[in-house]
Amino acid sequence: MNQTIPRGIHVAIIMDGNGRWATGRGQLRTAGHIAGARTVRRIVETAPGCGIGTLTLYAFSADNWRRPSREVALLMRLFRRYLVSEVARCVTNGVRMRIIGRRDRIPAELLRAITNAEHATRDGRKLELRIAVDYSSRDAIMRAAAKLPAGMPDGDRSRHAFARLLSSVDHGIGESRDVDLLIRTGGEQRLSDFLLWECAYAELYFTRRMWPEFAPADLSTAVEEFHARERRFGTVPEAAAG
Ligand code: IPE
Ligand code: IPE
Ligand code: MG
Repeated sequence: MNQTIPRGIHVAIIMDGNGRWATGRGQLRTAGHIAGARTVRRIVETAPGCGIGTLTLYAFSADNWRRPSREVALLMRLFRRYLVSEVARCVTNGVRMRIIGRRDRIPAELLRAITNAEHATRDGRKLELRIAVDYSSRDAIMRAAAKLPAGMPDGDRSRHAFARLLSSVDHGIGESRDVDLLIRTGGEQRLSDFLLWECAYAELYFTRRMWPEFAPADLSTAVEEFHARERRFGTVPEAAAG
């Protein structure tokens, strides 16, 4: 399989606020999840035009199993429906889909849809779309650490080796890629166990906008703000370097 990563920045989004959006309108939380799935479609279509090469979406955390079983069941059905309905569009638009996270606890029908979607979209090169389901960054780091050979020296080679392990334990492709821009909708300002290693130098962008109402223009605004920021990675600005 050609594992080339599409060019462009890596944007990760914590898609939060579905429930509050719905209850705020007098609807059930589930209506928020249904509306949220429509937002996913719009944002995926907009992403390549914003210079995004990899888009990682947080859809369901390992801790989300603690929600009421009816909500969990609906979310699992929605993920499956989304995958089945989007495959053809993704193939047409050059989107390669990858579901990251644990696979041993999700329903069998969803697992089949995941395998099919990944296989059908494997040649997409315009956008790598990674959807995190049953995902916990801390668990992933622990599982990767357990596979790290003893006595690895410090330094970049070990770091790259670890990034490859980290990706592989969650069914990713190649080395886990650093996040350039992390967006969280819904107003909370926390990571909720998402991509802790990959966000080491990510620019953080929090918006009060709830996920169902997050529009393509909001994504463009976030990416524009990202480009206006100065990333220093521990160094000093050129002008100050003397
Ligand atoms: C995010 O929206 C979707 C999932 C976690 C599955 P929430 O369901 O967390 O919505 P709020 O935060 O309760 O509004
Ligand atoms: C994080 O949102 C997970 C997803 C968006 C999928 P939560 O709503 O579960 O996070 P907390 O509980 O507010 O931290
Ligand atoms: Mg939430």
